[in-house]
Amino acid sequence: MMKKTIFSGMQATGNFHIGNWLGAARNWAHLSADYNCLYCVVDLHALTVRQDPKALSQSAYSVLAWYIALGLNPEDNILYFQSHVPAHAELAWILNCFTYVGELSRMTQFKDKSAKNEDNINAGLYTYPVLMAADILLFQTHLVPVGDDQRQHLELTRDVAQRFNAIYGDVFVVPEPYIPKVGARIMGLLNPEGKMSKSGDNPNDCIFLSDEPDAILKKFKRAVTDSDNAVFASPEKPGITNLLSIYSCVTGKTLDESVAAFAASGYGDFKTRVGEAVVEALAPYRAEYDRLMADRAYLDSVLQSGAAKAQALAAPTLVRVKEAIGLPV
Ligand code: TRP
Repeated sequence: MMKKTIFSGMQATGNFHIGNWLGAARNWAHLSADYNCLYCVVDLHALTVRQDPKALSQSAYSVLAWYIALGLNPEDNILYFQSHVPAHAELAWILNCFTYVGELSRMTQFKDKSAKNEDNINAGLYTYPVLMAADILLFQTHLVPVGDDQRQHLELTRDVAQRFNAIYGDVFVVPEPYIPKVGARIMGLLNPEGKMSKSGDNPNDCIFLSDEPDAILKKFKRAVTDSDNAVFASPEKPGITNLLSIYSCVTGKTLDESVAAFAASGYGDFKTRVGEAVVEALAPYRAEYDRLMADRAYLDSVLQSGAAKAQALAAPTLVRVKEAIGLPV
């Protein structure tokens, strides 16, 4: 049986946090048994915001190193930089001509980002979702793991694919969101009513995988609780419930076992121990990440073979698209 394809993109400036890790990344390693998996560091997308050249390159490598450290074996998964595979930009141009200005104007992310970057509302920011559609459609992707903030872009991708197919026949697979069967929903530490997110205003809401242990412990100490001082899970106690579920995730204990572990604890002790458990669970991944970041030659070899594999998979789709619309191939 043909395996289906999963495509996932991470911004080159992306900073993994424990919500990404416990909610999604922990399950990625298993996916390659059942799916063709591509994980692309989307460095072209990052250009929609002005970047410092050195920092951009460094953080693109950092995302790659985290992918590998979190268990994505480059033998079983295709890991690469978007800018290494020109087919992305090529298809994006073509799809630009099949996407309406009205559709792009409705994108909430565009509206948010342009409100925040009034002095640099560039055309790339506007057509960002078209490049994302190209990323996905280029590989005849069936499934795309996306958070809530990217659903609208995936909807647009589906619309563009269907529009293209309606004119030229079934050129593209129309992708669906991938909803993992398992995976915790980790909420913010300061705002436990909302999902943990790096785009929030306060960095203390979010534990980054690259945070130093001290910083992690401090952030947990500042986590929002309530005035009750009793550790149990309840919809009325979103902060405590979130900390308990983080603790369960990193220790492998059930929720009941976790509650029992803190039967005698006040909130201060509870938060410290959750922080320590997270630091401990992260340590081996951190060590692997540091090792990889010190081995640029290895990362470059991964990138080279990843780009070659991605290019080979993308080529037939691009040829079909060009033939369909009448570009000589
Ligand atoms: N836009 C996504 C984000 O900001 C990143 C991305 C780019 C992506 N291309 C993609 C995600 C393709 C999934 C599939 O998070």
